[in-house]
Amino acid sequence: MKTRILGTGHYLPERIVTNDELSKLMDTSDEWIQQRTGIKERRFVDFEKDPMGASELGSRAAKEALSNAGISKDDVDLIIYATLSPDKHFPGDGVLVQAKLDIPPGVPALDIRNQCSGFLYGLSVADAFIRSGTYKNILLVGSEVHSTGLDFTDRGRDVSVIFGDGAAAVVLGAVEDGDSGVLSVHLHADGRYADVLQIPYPSSAEMPRATPEKIEAGFHWPMMEGRQVFKHASVRMPEVVVEALEQNNVSPEDIDLLIPHQANLRISEMVQKRLKLRDDQVFNNIQKYGNTTACSIPLALHEAISEGKLKRGDLLCLAAFGAGFTWGSALIRY
Ligand code: ACO
Repeated sequence: MKTRILGTGHYLPERIVTNDELSKLMDTSDEWIQQRTGIKERRFVDFEKDPMGASELGSRAAKEALSNAGISKDDVDLIIYATLSPDKHFPGDGVLVQAKLDIPPGVPALDIRNQCSGFLYGLSVADAFIRSGTYKNILLVGSEVHSTGLDFTDRGRDVSVIFGDGAAAVVLGAVEDGDSGVLSVHLHADGRYADVLQIPYPSSAEMPRATPEKIEAGFHWPMMEGRQVFKHASVRMPEVVVEALEQNNVSPEDIDLLIPHQANLRISEMVQKRLKLRDDQVFNNIQKYGNTTACSIPLALHEAISEGKLKRGDLLCLAAFGAGFTWGSALIRY
C-alpha cells in the first residue's frame, strides 16, 4: 500500500491585517517587515465579530478537504491534528475536531506537537499507518490561532510581525502500490536548541505554574533568537531535501514543486538558492498569510493545487524547519 493525497482544504479568517496596521501598535514598519520577512499581510481571527479557536478553523478546513477528497466523515479511520496553539491545554484539538465534524465516536485522534514541522511529523505517522494496512483514510489537519498569543508591543515586535492565523487539511488514503503516493518522509530533531524558539510559560516545572509577576514580565509570550533560527533553517532545510532526493535517486531538476514551510521568504529564497532551483519550482505564499506554522505547508499545498501549479503525476517536495529544533522533508509523486 502507498499513501495518496486524496484531497485538500483550507480555512482562513476573513480579517486581513496589513503591516501598516501593526505599525500602529508597535514600533515597526511595512518596509522593515517586507525587507526582513517578505510578509505583506496576514489573517487574524476577528474576535469582535466572529471569535473562534484553532479547532474551529481546523474543522472548517477539514470539512473542505473531506469534500474535495470525496470521503465521508464516516469513512475517516484516524484524525491527526498538528498545532502549537490548541484551544485548551488538554484535551488536544483532535477530539474537538472529531466532535465538531461528527466523526464517529471510537475513531482515534492523535495530537502532534512539532510546531512548524508538525505537518511533516503527522504525515510520517499517517504514511506508516497506511503502509502497514492499519488505517485506510486519515484526516491530517494543521491549524493555528497565533493572534491571541502574540505580544503586540515593542517588546514582542520581532516575533509578532511574523505570524498569522489559518488552517489547512489533507485527506490521505491507501492506494495499491503504483507510481503515485508518498515516496519517503524524513524527520529530524535537535533538542539542544529547545530554548531558541519557545513559549516557556506556564510551566509544569514550576510551582505554581503561573504567577502574576511572570505573566507581567511576558514569559507567556513566544521568545525567539531570530538569527539562530534563520542560520539553522537555511542549512537544515536544503540538507533534508537532499536527503529525500538521494534516497529516491532523483536530483533537484526533477522536482516539479518544492513547498518549503513558510517561515520567512528570505529563508525560502536561501533554500532555493542552495538547491539551485528555478523560481517556478518553488511555491511561496507567506506574503499573504505570514507564518502559519503547522498550517503553512498544507495551506501552500492547497493553494498550489487550486492554482494549477501542482498536477497529478508531479514530483512534489515538502520541507520544514521549526522550534525544537525539528525539521523534515517528504517526497511525493502527487
Ligand atoms: N520592526 C522593526 N525593527 C525591528 C523589529 C520589527 N518588527 N524586530 C526587531 N527589530 C529591530 C531590532 O530591535 C534590531 O534593532 P537594533 O539593531 O537597534 O538592536 C534590528 O531590528 C535588527 O534586529 P535583528 O533581530 O538582528 O534582525 P534580523 O535582521 O535578524 O531580522 C528576523 C529579524 C526577521 C526575526 C530574522 O532574524 C528572521 O527572520 N529569523 C528567522 C526567524 C523565523 O523565521 N522565525 C519563524 C518562526 S520559526 C519557523 O517557522 C522556522
